[in-house]
Amino acid sequence: MAVRRRALLQAAAGAGALAAAWPLTHGLGPDAAYAAAAALGASWDPAPFTLGVGSGDPLPTSVVLWTRLAPDPLAAAQPLPDIVQVDWSVATDAAMTQVVASGSVAASVLLGHSVRVVVDGLTPGRRYHYRFRALGQHSRVGRTKTAPTGPVSLVRFASLNCQHYQSGEYPGMRDLAADANLDFVVHLGDYVYEGSELGTAYTLSDYRRLHALYKGDPLLRDLHAAHPFYLTWDDHEVVNDYSGSRGAATFVARRSAAYQGWYEHLPLRLEGSDTALPDPRIHRHRRWGDLLELVILDLRQHRSEQNVTGGTILGAAQNQWVKDRISQRSGGWHCWVNSIFLSQQRNPDGGYMFTDQWDGFRAERTELLTYAQQQGITDFVTITGDWHSAFVQDVRPDFDNLAAPVIGTEFVAHSTTSSGYSASWNAANGPRLGQANPHLQYFEGNRYGYDLYEVTPQRWTTRLRVVADRSNPNAAVSTLTSWHVDRGRAGAYEDPATKGSAAQYRRNP
Ligand SMILES: [Fe+2]
Repeated sequence: MAVRRRALLQAAAGAGALAAAWPLTHGLGPDAAYAAAAALGASWDPAPFTLGVGSGDPLPTSVVLWTRLAPDPLAAAQPLPDIVQVDWSVATDAAMTQVVASGSVAASVLLGHSVRVVVDGLTPGRRYHYRFRALGQHSRVGRTKTAPTGPVSLVRFASLNCQHYQSGEYPGMRDLAADANLDFVVHLGDYVYEGSELGTAYTLSDYRRLHALYKGDPLLRDLHAAHPFYLTWDDHEVVNDYSGSRGAATFVARRSAAYQGWYEHLPLRLEGSDTALPDPRIHRHRRWGDLLELVILDLRQHRSEQNVTGGTILGAAQNQWVKDRISQRSGGWHCWVNSIFLSQQRNPDGGYMFTDQWDGFRAERTELLTYAQQQGITDFVTITGDWHSAFVQDVRPDFDNLAAPVIGTEFVAHSTTSSGYSASWNAANGPRLGQANPHLQYFEGNRYGYDLYEVTPQRWTTRLRVVADRSNPNAAVSTLTSWHVDRGRAGAYEDPATKGSAAQYRRNP
């Protein structure tokens, strides 16, 4: 048995495809791991800040800064002391001469020498620059922005999802990093996939190595350095289609390792007694002045099994929390940051296409959306990932009752790189999906990219930004089509100027 495994590992080092099929390759030795990563084009910043820098979860006077010391990014253990002191500074200029905040924090081996700094006392709605210093080295300089307060006339932000590393490059991230007027990025989940050329992740050191592989993409690092992120997760940060804890000790151990790996590699704000690892509370509510509120959902950690009586995708506490967010909404655009397809999705035979999404929790969805309707919700938009194809759809409290009013719009974004269905499947099934789902307005599954949102007090606009070639980091990025929602009037309509663009289904051609 040992001989066979060694032979497979040698083969895996030369032919990456084998590694994905052989789960024990999380034992890949360092040389083989670096060879596999190099074959995928990974490269890193200078040590010890190999994984770059990032910022996230802006509030009006506070933002979270992130980095991780990883001089040997794919190693199971870093060649570092157990505690390393890391200095940080925040300035109003990119040259870091006008420093407005600074300090020092300890990076501990217990959290993989990751660094999180919650900077307070900042000015609302302004850009800052930041960097770290440790072991005699400076990190690159990152840029961030605090949330504004009061009247806001425009917010521009983007969403990303499903960025399977082996499936392509990240030209959309290059495009976003260069967008000087972007306010922030939202990540809708599937930031990493548990399987890679380095093997399948099970342990904390596996998940650390997986995140370090993804951060080996220079365009991902540039994007983190350019804009703050708000993040949620989906399933692949742990394992495909998981639900809650499933109760088994091995799964709980794996999930804890995955959650910790995720926490160590991203700019997350998880303070407080109910937000600690290994069960961090990540659902949260953020405001961008009076214009926009984000209701950031966690649709994985608290869910029950699908298709069961009394099933829940939110869990009881988060369900009540969402209702409170609805009843206490701010009056701006009310946006759910939703990792997985909200709207009903029937097959032509009447069954449900996938019940890992909200369709597996239909009673809770109807109850929640009916509550939203009863509360008189308006200006309600949901932004969604997971499906790897773009959809625009009307949200109704009961999708089978076309007499029920439209109360909002769901925009499901293309994936960053993760493969969707084939062009022939999309061509054949786009019209069938439209037939079976009268709330569906638009479907396009042949492209990759991100969604860009430009939101004013009068109008929400979603632009479907697509890349010419996901295998080319320098590929052109363009707007395929744009959709608008007017304030006070539920339901999206396509911009007439882009209505002629390619799609596999349009309800109103
Ligand atoms: Fe995905």
